[in-house]
Amino acid sequence: MSYWNTYNGKYSMRIKFLCLIFALGSTFTVNSPAQSSMMQKYNLPLLYNDDGDDFIIIAHRGASAYYPENTMVAFQKAVEMGAEMIELDIMMSKDGVPIVFHDAKLNKHTNGNSYVRNYTLNELKKLDAGSWFDSKFSDQKIPTLEEVLEFASGKIALNIEIKTEAVSDKIENGIEQKALQLVKKHGMENHVLFSSFDYRAVRRIKQFDSNVPVALLYDKSQSNRLLPHQLVEKYNVDAFNCSYRQLKRKWMTDLNEHDIPTFIYTVNSKRKMQKLIAGSVTGIFTNKPDLLKSVVENYHLNNTTD
Ligand code: G3P
Repeated sequence: MSYWNTYNGKYSMRIKFLCLIFALGSTFTVNSPAQSSMMQKYNLPLLYNDDGDDFIIIAHRGASAYYPENTMVAFQKAVEMGAEMIELDIMMSKDGVPIVFHDAKLNKHTNGNSYVRNYTLNELKKLDAGSWFDSKFSDQKIPTLEEVLEFASGKIALNIEIKTEAVSDKIENGIEQKALQLVKKHGMENHVLFSSFDYRAVRRIKQFDSNVPVALLYDKSQSNRLLPHQLVEKYNVDAFNCSYRQLKRKWMTDLNEHDIPTFIYTVNSKRKMQKLIAGSVTGIFTNKPDLLKSVVENYHLNNTTD
């Protein structure tokens, strides 16, 4: 059973204590023009538009509740809505170019068929990546990672999720190396968080450059019943990313005790957002960054003591 589904009064004292800590932190940092203390303390991406608290609003595949996921319009709107980070998914075209797309197959979110890996970049660029959502977005194309980096540089931090479909035994010129090279080319190595459900990719990014922030995306099949802090140590990562559904009570305790940055996906309800913020998670992935921003702002208003 997940921590949040089994939450009851037994934990209310602890939650109240965490609320107090959170509220005190907010009091002193909410108006800070500098990067929040959390970004300096941990190896997390530096935010271009830090709102000053120790919590990160992450737009999951952009503002994907309102715009076609993983497209430039979804990313632009996420910035306008006040997201502090954008999560996006990468895989590789047939001719080896890192592109931004979630599914292995094209049919659900474009007018293409078959697998992404069977299409060259030129062929992918001819597809319509917006009409599945609404015909008014028919001009949306599958972006390359490079296009998104050009857009994001100086504007918003990125969580780059390397899709398992794109990870292979190839290290030289594999997706990890290519993505990291592009990130560095655009000067964003301090503004990205890499993550993957494939722990080989997680290891490789750290082997290429141990300074680049990396998160482990929890995957039961690779985790051998280890606790989050053991996984974080084993893979030498900077953060633990987990689904709301899988998050367990004892994991939250473990993560808090070991002071590990924790990001939870994908949360679109106000009630769940409030519960996670009170539980002192580091950030939430949401398809509705505007809603999360208002929940965070209300939380600060109700918990600021001065
Ligand atoms: O990276 C967080 C979340 O997006 C992971 O799940 O299925 O959207 O790749 P998924």
